[in-house]
Amino acid sequence: MKKEIASFKVNDRAHEVLITPNMTLSELLREHLGLTGTKNACGAGECGSCTVLVDGKPILSCSTLAIAVQDKEILCIEGLSRGPELHSLQEAFIDAGAIQCGFCTPGMIMTAKAMLEGNPNPTRDQVKEGLGGNICRCTGYVKIIDAVMGAADTLSKGGK
Ligand code: FES
Ligand code: FES
Repeated sequence: MKKEIASFKVNDRAHEVLITPNMTLSELLREHLGLTGTKNACGAGECGSCTVLVDGKPILSCSTLAIAVQDKEILCIEGLSRGPELHSLQEAFIDAGAIQCGFCTPGMIMTAKAMLEGNPNPTRDQVKEGLGGNICRCTGYVKIIDAVMGAADTLSKGGK
């Protein structure tokens, strides 16, 4: 298959990568850039574990071709923290005990980040609806919703 060099901006860093036309964004992140925080659970667009933000919008990286997001702003879980300082959503997931196996967590957090940017003070029902495309097999969701509500509170008081 023909390969070509394509340029990507991931977590504020520029990369040039030799790609094939059928390479997905999750493959690009995980296998070529070493950003394995983004998970690929179903690989079929059904679970949300591979969610990353492209130009601020959540997309399923397992179902998105890398070539389609050339030169766009890609943000994945590794881009949320600042050095050792975690993002409020990451802190809130830890504090609420919203992580068990952790496989769904990066996708949940990226989806929640986009949701809170659009609606900084959501109700519990709005959080539930906003995370509707993200499946968790472990937690029963209550603690995940607690975490997002907690992060919304922190962020509305000026947290990062
Ligand atoms: S791995 Fe992409 S939706 Fe499940
Ligand atoms: S913590 Fe295991 S799938 Fe959500």
